[in-house]
Amino acid sequence: MDTFESINSRRSIKSFDKNQKMTKNEITKLLEFAILSPTSYNIQNWRFVIVTEQVLKDKLSELSYGQKQVSESSLVIILCADLKSWDKNPERYWINIPEEPRKALVASMKNSYDGKSELQRDEAMRSCGMAAQTIMLAAKSMGYDTCPMKGFDYDKVSKLIHLPDDHVISMMVVVGKATKPASSRGGQLPLSEIVFENHF
Ligand SMILES: Cc1cc2nc3c(=O)[nH]c(=O)nc-3n(C[C@H](O)[C@H](O)[C@H](O)COP(=O)(O)O)c2cc1C
Repeated sequence: MDTFESINSRRSIKSFDKNQKMTKNEITKLLEFAILSPTSYNIQNWRFVIVTEQVLKDKLSELSYGQKQVSESSLVIILCADLKSWDKNPERYWINIPEEPRKALVASMKNSYDGKSELQRDEAMRSCGMAAQTIMLAAKSMGYDTCPMKGFDYDKVSKLIHLPDDHVISMMVVVGKATKPASSRGGQLPLSEIVFENHF
């Protein structure tokens, strides 16, 4: 499937085949695509909690106000981010480049994020948003469907997955084989309303 086709055919699916299991290899492949998503300073601040166990998916469905695509999916990915990744041995984000530019990048990164909690959170959401789209398009190319989700109790899900204090949850993406197609598109705004040439 080419990129245009994945973009066109990706839809938010609400009914999945409960008996469909993803293999470990498929899950790894999907996550290997996810980590090719771009992040500012190559900070790779996303952390992915993957859930395949039925009991846990059922619990997550309950915490998603009963949304059944969660319990029916083959895989739930909870996209989290480490807000302090800029301060955790950041040299490893640039391991392949010479020491001098690596030191300069790390210094610039620390200077950029240190003490700026709003920016740290913005970066978490930007990185996870990018990764979520990569996951959804890659899954589509692998023959799977997805639904991005924010409709769940963030506090309770945080507790359930033992989210560390310096991490946040951005969103979930559920993955599976659709049993029903998505309803027709809600309607896209015209480009004339949302695109501005050079300035508003
Ligand atoms: C951040 C985000 C959160 C969403 N949360 C939910 C959700 O909790 N439940 C749901 O059924 N759909 C959810 N959606 C799906 C949107 O309703 C859907 O993307 C939108 O209606 C456009 O439809 P499409 O994805 O099929 O093109 C979410 C989408 C995004 C991007």
